[in-house]
Amino acid sequence: MEKPKRENFSSGIAVFFATLGSALGLGNMWKFPYLVGNNGGGAFLFVYLICVFLLGIPVMISEFFIGRHTRKNAIGAFTELKANPFWKCIGYMGILSSLFIMFFYTDVAGWVYSYVFRGIKGDFNILSSLESTKAANTTQSIFLNTTGAGNSAINPMIWQLIVLVVVSLIIIAGVKKGIEKVTKTLLPILFILVIICDIRALTLQGSKEGLNFLFNPDFSKLNGSSIMTAMGLAFFKLSLGMGTMITYASYFTNDNNLMRTPIKVALSDIMVSLLAGIAIFPVVFSFGMKPEGSGMGLLFTTVPLIFMKLPFGNLLLIAFFFLTAIAATTALISLLEVPVAFLSEELKINRTKSVIIISSIVLIVGILTVHPGSLFGNAMIGSRNLFDFYDFLTSNILMPLGGFLIALFVGYVVNKNTLYQTLSNNGTLNIAVSFKLYQFVIRYITPILVLLVFLNSLQIITF
Ligand code: PHE
Repeated sequence: MEKPKRENFSSGIAVFFATLGSALGLGNMWKFPYLVGNNGGGAFLFVYLICVFLLGIPVMISEFFIGRHTRKNAIGAFTELKANPFWKCIGYMGILSSLFIMFFYTDVAGWVYSYVFRGIKGDFNILSSLESTKAANTTQSIFLNTTGAGNSAINPMIWQLIVLVVVSLIIIAGVKKGIEKVTKTLLPILFILVIICDIRALTLQGSKEGLNFLFNPDFSKLNGSSIMTAMGLAFFKLSLGMGTMITYASYFTNDNNLMRTPIKVALSDIMVSLLAGIAIFPVVFSFGMKPEGSGMGLLFTTVPLIFMKLPFGNLLLIAFFFLTAIAATTALISLLEVPVAFLSEELKINRTKSVIIISSIVLIVGILTVHPGSLFGNAMIGSRNLFDFYDFLTSNILMPLGGFLIALFVGYVVNKNTLYQTLSNNGTLNIAVSFKLYQFVIRYITPILVLLVFLNSLQIITF
């Protein structure tokens, strides 16, 4: 029997950037701003941060433990741990989540790719000669055309195909070294570009209102559904509850500090989201738009406005969307890796074939279901179209449920000594205090919090 080759990341820095590459993505640049906008600003941000610290970081540590201890994919890991087969449902749910996320994520990544292309073609140049309201309306209609809502669905479908081809080629090439290099060099540049956006946004008239919206919590705007959304965003942002981090950790170096890396990744991720928010909300207010009404077009309708009257604005815009495309691509790679690692290690299908199988499923289902105007593009499940349904099902249900089960598994089923040995790198790290804290949170806080949010959203309890 052919033994699957397991590549490892080459160093601690590589581990950090690869993990951050999975976390950073459309979640920061696209989802975070529009969810903050839709859910009332600062209060939502506050709940989100609580979720990152009490749910996100502990679950990430737990997934790192499962992955590195077993060095297996998200399903094989539970066999390796000799767990009751029930726990494998975490892995199967993870594969389902990764597919559902990819159905819509590749669509949005396609919008980003197409903005790079539009920038190169000069589609945004017209903005510099328009006054505010006209410019805002123009970016709105460019966005609608991009998603296929304003004309035909063919364009976004082609972009979705291009995204999938790019991601598949990277994974087939197996260039972990390539990914490492790309993320290591380009993510810092993304950081700098977002800061340039921030400076521009903060010098706009009315920028203060935008900052107030983001940072002044108005708790009256919170309700059960926005709390659930904040929790879902924390899981989605940090790629948790669905096996991605289990799979990635199976490639980690032995000396990586599994308790410290999650904190570094989470803080960097929060920082990028905040920087994106600081770039976007001042523009919303100074161009007379409404944060609540802007919906998922927020990123795409505001960023062109940031650059419209800057010297080299178009060039900056191209760079900005190019780097966002890179972030989306590295996140997609980690999404695709979950089912591919499963097919190649558990079902012994070779890697290239596995990639082709999964990408084809994503392409076919994605193209037929997420575009307005495609075959099932107008189908509804309850009050949601399929795009929203995939998003809701994964972020708000499957990933928190996966996180809940992982917390129970590592908190109550795994042998405490094994856990300690792995997290302390066989006793070489001094984690006595942090381990106690982690154990307490993962056993009592994380599962109870997820449960409360679920019960609250079902209106069984209210708070
Ligand atoms: N964390 C990524 C983002 O915020 C999305 C993602 C979710 C990636 C789940 C992998 C797994 O864009």
